[in-house]
Amino acid sequence: MEDIQKQYDAIFVRKSVRKYRSEPLPPDAMFDLQRHVKELEPLLPDIPFAFEVLTGEHPTGKFVVQAPQYLLFYSKPDEPGAWENCGYLLEQFSLLFTSLGIGSCFLGSAKPPASMMQSNGLDYLSMLAFGLPEGSVTRERAAFKRKPVEEVTDVAEEADLLEAVRLAPSAVNSQPWLVTGVRGDLLFCRRKPPFFGRKHMNLVNRIDMGIALCHFRLAAAMAGKPIRVSLDPAQEHFPEKRAVPSGCVFSARVTYCTAAPPVKQYKAPSVD
Ligand SMILES: Cc1cc2nc3c(=O)[nH]c(=O)nc-3n(C[C@H](O)[C@H](O)[C@H](O)COP(=O)(O)O)c2cc1C
Repeated sequence: MEDIQKQYDAIFVRKSVRKYRSEPLPPDAMFDLQRHVKELEPLLPDIPFAFEVLTGEHPTGKFVVQAPQYLLFYSKPDEPGAWENCGYLLEQFSLLFTSLGIGSCFLGSAKPPASMMQSNGLDYLSMLAFGLPEGSVTRERAAFKRKPVEEVTDVAEEADLLEAVRLAPSAVNSQPWLVTGVRGDLLFCRRKPPFFGRKHMNLVNRIDMGIALCHFRLAAAMAGKPIRVSLDPAQEHFPEKRAVPSGCVFSARVTYCTAAPPVKQYKAPSVD
């Protein structure tokens, strides 16, 4: 719960950090991170995943940020939900980093050295640059460049919870999410990317959707509402299928209890 509170608070102040001090994190901080790996909550428990840390070398590719270290994520890229799971898990790290004063930045086009393209039979999907920042890891709420809430959702009664989604980071700040449905039963969709670069954007936007689901899960948990996430586009286990808005692709259907969480009743002392 302590980690959930820290991660949730970080949503409202975090930013991508692109300037780092040159030294890697001290060994005790790295040891602490390993402890956090055990506490991570995957989106899909059945998809195998692994992390590796790249130190002392830089990845190649477009838009690479020079950092002392990189957290590499591996999984089975062809499994349904693998890319969403990547965003969901790496974002938990990114938020924890923020809460610890450590900077990070997703790198969607970067490639690790050839020797690190695989780990334990799993393929490399994406990475986070991380390290001690030159400057701050946080910013004022007003400095977030994001779409207005009306472009993110039409579920006005859940706007408070969905603020965490609105503020989520995304590849080239594309903010592909569109959330429809009703309170307690939300459909998370992603807008199809423009034709140019569609193949790559389709993959990184799936990471973005995993990040959005991570933020929503944290906001709902803080409101005392654990969520259930179904990534089945056929929506087989639901009595009614919700329509995906035109120009969008199904990402997830998220359900949760709408009743107010139990509040401890205050029993007034009896007056004799
Ligand atoms: C999946 C993904 C890939 C990204 N790839 C890069 C990248 O290659 N290089 C970079 O400098 N920033 C990258 N970013 C950071 C985004 O540009 C950034 O999140 C977005 O502009 C919003 O800014 P903020 O994170 O400061 O809120 C990526 C973000 C995500 C979520």
